[in-house]
Amino acid sequence: MKHKEILELLNEMTIEEKIGQMVQITGDVFLSEDTNSILTGPLKDLHLSKEKVYHVGSVLNIVGAEKVKKVQDEYLSKSRLKIPLLFMDDIINGYKIAFPIPIAQGCSWNPKAIEEMTEISSMESSIAGANVNFSPMVDLSRDARWGRVMESIGGEDPLLGEIYARTMVKAYQGNRLSKIGKMVSCVKHIAGYGAVEAGRDYNTVDMSEREFRQYYLPAYKSAIEAGAEMIMTSFNILNGIPSTVNKWLIQEIIRKELGFEGIIISDYGAIEETITHGYSANEKEATRNAINAGVDIDMMSGIYANHLKDLCLENQEIENKVNESVLRILTLKNKLGLFENPYGNSNVVQEKTYLMNPTNLEKAKKLTQETFVLLKNKNHVLPLQKNKKIALIGPYIDNIGITGSWSMFSDRTKNGTILDIFKEKIGKDVLYAKGCEILRQEEINKILSADGLPTVHVENESQKEQEMITSALQIAKKADVILLALGEHYKQSGEACSRSNIALPENQIQLINELYTLSKPMVLILFNGRPIELNTVEEKVNAILEVWFPGTTGAKAIVEILFGEENPSGKLTMSFPQNVGQCPVYYNHYNTGRPHHSNLRYVSRYQDIPTESFYPFGYGLSYCNFKYTDMHLNKHKMKKNETITVTVKIENQSNYAGYEVIQLYIQDLYGSVVRPVKELKAFKKAYFQSHEIKYVNFEIDIDMLKFWNDKLEYVAESGEFKVFVGGDSVNVLEEKFELLK
Ligand code: BGC
Repeated sequence: MKHKEILELLNEMTIEEKIGQMVQITGDVFLSEDTNSILTGPLKDLHLSKEKVYHVGSVLNIVGAEKVKKVQDEYLSKSRLKIPLLFMDDIINGYKIAFPIPIAQGCSWNPKAIEEMTEISSMESSIAGANVNFSPMVDLSRDARWGRVMESIGGEDPLLGEIYARTMVKAYQGNRLSKIGKMVSCVKHIAGYGAVEAGRDYNTVDMSEREFRQYYLPAYKSAIEAGAEMIMTSFNILNGIPSTVNKWLIQEIIRKELGFEGIIISDYGAIEETITHGYSANEKEATRNAINAGVDIDMMSGIYANHLKDLCLENQEIENKVNESVLRILTLKNKLGLFENPYGNSNVVQEKTYLMNPTNLEKAKKLTQETFVLLKNKNHVLPLQKNKKIALIGPYIDNIGITGSWSMFSDRTKNGTILDIFKEKIGKDVLYAKGCEILRQEEINKILSADGLPTVHVENESQKEQEMITSALQIAKKADVILLALGEHYKQSGEACSRSNIALPENQIQLINELYTLSKPMVLILFNGRPIELNTVEEKVNAILEVWFPGTTGAKAIVEILFGEENPSGKLTMSFPQNVGQCPVYYNHYNTGRPHHSNLRYVSRYQDIPTESFYPFGYGLSYCNFKYTDMHLNKHKMKKNETITVTVKIENQSNYAGYEVIQLYIQDLYGSVVRPVKELKAFKKAYFQSHEIKYVNFEIDIDMLKFWNDKLEYVAESGEFKVFVGGDSVNVLEEKFELLK
């Protein structure tokens, strides 16, 4: 459609039809045989009349070519102007093929790998009819108590957030949205959602503008610069005002400063929640606040549908804003080619051949392997030798629930469990015992009741627990090595899954303690959606492989790594705390006037635990052993228009070949405002043959030295800097240089 035709269409629309475009509801209402049930069903709470339902502009949570067609046909059959619906979904880590959860993807430190995963996900879901994906989530996340850290692609680092945000937006959208396999990327959740107080979901966010600009804004900015067509506001208040109605955020920052021209959608029911926050006095005021702030689409609160018309009648300016929003929405529909073909790229035939296709599954497995982080490998217990007797123990050994809490559509059945893959590799006589459940029933009941589901009572649970441990011990006694697959329940991370206890579940710790008495080498494979507290179990096991929730091909990917067919190369994107009391703990913190290493009693530390994280940001082992030496700067003084070349010698002192992520950090020693002890400024992932030596170079330029100064200007200040290079954020070589005036 030409722009002129869109304007004509806009002209033809009634005010009700326009407002409808700005409303999003769940799509299943259009699947109902009896359309009267719309009024009594899930939309009752939104107080939407049937007429209003058939005006809505978009739906969420409908995917699958056939379903999409059914909904679109039903909607169009009753809509006057036949403006197609937009289909929006949460395809967070893949559609049918579940990829590792976002926090895991980030640990690959490989934008190319993330691009490939996103492209497959985008192709699968757009063939299945999705037009918009509520992804990526680029909220900087420092607090492991927050359940949504599992969705955070860049973890605690703004540079990773920036790079990954850009990569994913481009991979979803390509250069033409109507092209097969492409879809709209909706970046979320603006803004600062990862900083919710005490890690409790939906909680307060209060931070200085400098902190916001320095750490939280860069990833959103990068997504916008990459062309993201949609942005979702966050549930939290930001410095006293809910993000969803925060004019400073939406008008000043997003629209004016970052030049965003796309669509702003609220999060689920967030406009209405501004009343609960204690900001808007009633629904009409919430509507006024949201439209004045610049929210184009109201996701699931019904507020726009019920109040926007009155506001338009009262105030021409509001009607003008409605016109602007609707023009944006129609323009996006046009870019997706929906006026020509309302079903987009959905295709029932292609669904059959493309979804879960073997080439993509093989690719997925390889990419998944890059996301695993080897946290410990004492005495090189890994890789496992096939001639050793291995006891497989734990509730994740024979479990397909390893796709994470956002993976609603994935096909979990087809790719086997760790047990299945072991049987394929080493024959049928595998030593296996479940050892324990993931959680005690009491814990599961808490999850069930939060979901409104009936709870379950288990008779004699502790006796059963003991019996499971006894049989695990019997099995383990027969083995040379114990392979333990443990972790969080997948419903313990994700939205509304904040936790104050982030250790392994008690019953699992008990199992470890009992197995420990056998004095056999133990390898722990960890399934979890957040950094967890490992201090009580770490010393009892010889190796720890962090696999997060690895997705459809996870089991195969894990077993190949365990046997050394592939070499782990992931590095943490979030620090692991010593214990939960340390949260939030992150590497790019400020110094205090009393660092813990000064020799005083009154220093900044905890009495009972070290100040440092348990595993630092950037950390991860490999079967290789990399030695960093000979750090060299081509000069130690730099003018503002110059660069410095940093070179470091890295030797793979092992018989294995593998990848290493080489990381460069900078510290600005003195500034007009204090600067963090280290900030990641560059990294390279390089492949080393066994015993290979490489000299790796980085260029330091002025942009790497810039920050938001005391006057809130983004500048580099002359003075002394430290530069660090290493395989993580702690074990580094360092040098100094000076930026001249
Ligand atoms: C979440 C969003 C999600 C939306 C739609 C909300 O509850 O915060 O991340 O995209 O629901 O499902």
